[in-house]
Amino acid sequence: MKPEHIDTIIKAHQGELGSTISILEDIQDHYHYLPEDALRMVARGTGSSLVDIYGVATFYKAFSLKAKGKHLISVCLGTACHVRAAPDIVDEFTQQLGISPGETTEDNEFTLETVNCLGACALGPIVNVDGHYFSNVTRSDVKKIIQKTRAGFEEDEIKSAPDVFPIETNTKEISTGH
Ligand code: FES
Repeated sequence: MKPEHIDTIIKAHQGELGSTISILEDIQDHYHYLPEDALRMVARGTGSSLVDIYGVATFYKAFSLKAKGKHLISVCLGTACHVRAAPDIVDEFTQQLGISPGETTEDNEFTLETVNCLGACALGPIVNVDGHYFSNVTRSDVKKIIQKTRAGFEEDEIKSAPDVFPIETNTKEISTGH
């Protein structure tokens, strides 16, 4: 973490209404989480107490106080996905990546997490990677998903699925080809 960079972010939002949230968003965008030293700098720079800054950082789910990898893999373990063998998918990711849910690989490439119901139960099990989602995932798809993530998602294999996510979302569906 570069202190000068954090300083620049703080200064860029000085005097703005709701500046703390904007500052934390910018820091998180850059580092993928909120390092403790950065929070101390934000407290100093905005004249708020560290308790207040922690309050904001822990209130909003979008913020993370733990280091996350470059790619975030979320496996749905909601009821519908659970009964369609989503625990096996978690197990396969755990084996392939060598980490348990909530952990990040040593090379900082992947963070694995589980979530409850992503709102597309009929297409479960669902896996979301960096905002792109895979439907009807099977154990044998896991390796392909990891490979695709490492290679980067091609625009032509992404299709919007507004019928699946009727609420406004940036999530895109990617097929594993089965
Ligand atoms: S339970 Fe997984 S999408 Fe609803």
